Amino acid sequence: MAVQISPSILSADFARLADEAARVEGVADWLHVDVMDNHFVPNLTIGLPVVEALLKATSTPIDCHLMIEDPDRWAPGYAEAGAGSVTIHAEAAKAAIRTLRAIRAAGARAGFAVNPATAVEQYEDLLPEIDMLLVMTVEPGFGGQRFLDVVLPKVSRARALIDKHGGEVWLQVDGGVSAETIERCAEAGADVFVAGNAVYGADDPAQAVRNLRALAENA
Ligand code: DX5
Ligand code: ZN
Repeated sequence: MAVQISPSILSADFARLADEAARVEGVADWLHVDVMDNHFVPNLTIGLPVVEALLKATSTPIDCHLMIEDPDRWAPGYAEAGAGSVTIHAEAAKAAIRTLRAIRAAGARAGFAVNPATAVEQYEDLLPEIDMLLVMTVEPGFGGQRFLDVVLPKVSRARALIDKHGGEVWLQVDGGVSAETIERCAEAGADVFVAGNAVYGADDPAQAVRNLRALAENA
C-alpha cells in the first residue's frame, strides 16, 4: 500500500477553511476532519454542515474522524454527504458492524478507530468489515499533543493482523505524527498518516506534506 498523507484541519484557521484546504490541494491524499462532540472527547469542533461546505470547497477527498458519542446514529450521514472515508470509534459504537456496513452502503470507506489504551486483537474478526483501521497515537481530543511511543507495538500488531487476513485494510495513525515520528510509524506498518500541527503549523503546508511523504516512503 502506498503512503498517504491526510492533513488535519484541526490545526488550520477555522475562519478560513476553504483557503486552508486549498493550501494542500493536489499534494495531500485526504483532508482529515476531526468531528468532536464535547462528550466522547473534551473538545467541541465542527459537524456535518461544515463538512458539507468543505466538500464544495475542495476537490481533496474528505477523511472524517468522528470522535463522538452515538456514531451509529450520525456516521452514515457523513458518508451520504460525500465524505470519502468515515471513521467511527470502537469505544463509542454500540453496533459497529451495522454502522460500518451503513457507511460502505452510502459509498464511503469505513474506518474503525481504537484509542491508545484499547487493544486491537479483539477486533480481528471485524477486519472484513473495515477499510481503514485507525490506531490513535495520542489520546483523542486535541491537536499538537506529544506522540505516544507506547502505542507503536500495537501498530506493529495491527499490521500483522491485517497482513494475516490478506485484506486491503489501510492502517492509519493519528496524533503527534511529525518529521520526528513518522518514520517510526511507517516502520511499524502504518500507511496512512494524519498530521495536523506538522502540516498547518508549518510556513509551507504543501512542502510539509511532501517532506512527510518522503520520510514515510524512505522508512
Ligand atoms: C486528535 C485528532 C487529530 C489531531 C492531530 O484527537 O484526532 O487528528 O488533529 O493533530 P496533531 O498532528 O497536531 O497531533
Ligand atoms: Zn483525527
